[in-house]
Amino acid sequence: MPTVFVSTWPDTGLPCVRRASESYSENQDLLRACEDGLIEVEMDPRFQAIGYGGLPNSDGEQELDAGIMDGRNLEAGAVCSVRNIVPVISVARHVMQDTTHVMLAGDQAMRFALSKGFKPRSLHSRNSLEKYENWRKDKHEAEVAHLVHDTVTIVGREDPGHVVAACSTSGLAWKLPGRVGDSPIVGGGFYADDEAGAAGATGVGEDIWRFMLSFRAVEFMRAGMTAQEACDRAVAMMVSRKPKTREHVSAVFAVSKAGDWGAAASKDGFVAWTSVDGKYESYEIRGAP
Ligand code: GLY
Repeated sequence: MPTVFVSTWPDTGLPCVRRASESYSENQDLLRACEDGLIEVEMDPRFQAIGYGGLPNSDGEQELDAGIMDGRNLEAGAVCSVRNIVPVISVARHVMQDTTHVMLAGDQAMRFALSKGFKPRSLHSRNSLEKYENWRKDKHEAEVAHLVHDTVTIVGREDPGHVVAACSTSGLAWKLPGRVGDSPIVGGGFYADDEAGAAGATGVGEDIWRFMLSFRAVEFMRAGMTAQEACDRAVAMMVSRKPKTREHVSAVFAVSKAGDWGAAASKDGFVAWTSVDGKYESYEIRGAP
């Protein structure tokens, strides 16, 4: 059975699955591999939907969200609205491993990160500052930014059927300060259970959260569907119950405990990258019929 990683979007998906796959080869540690994949993207200022260089809120500040879940024992850790700290996926992992809680928020999450040795820093890159200034002059930029880049999520699977899901984002560009989307929400932006599989989401957080796309996909796999059938069904329910969700790309993707994977989206435009036993491929995912 294969070792599988699946991640999101044309520009970020490859570095994410490649680093995850390399980390897995080095350490045989699935949780660490998924974390390492996201760290790679969070720390690279070219990617403007996550971590350092992410597009900020309407005040011009990055507020980062992240979460991680271990399918072996359903342990999960998440942080939301964290300023001036990267990589936040690692703060989420500390929440999972070092506390009895699932989520820490805002400045208190930052305080927790500082207690773990993270150093505060500006999260602006030249690109994120320029984009913010442009947005302040022309607020139509908001739409364009959302369509081009989004949350990076990864799922991983190893023999004999262990799965992990993890997610990191700066959220919607120019969001209202304090707004939190699906990405740090267990079952919204990510979910993993070795009894069924793992799933992750990317796109409009309000829609993904409302429909708990990741949890739904995992529950459909638990009921016997393949990963592709589970994703198709989860997205079909969303677009049928709320047709406006077709206006933007929201996607869910999954890997089953057996190792098959799938992805579905509300609209054309989503791209998934996979690493299957170390071989990388990208897939354009058509919008729901
Ligand atoms: N999917 C990321 C967000 O809406 O915040």
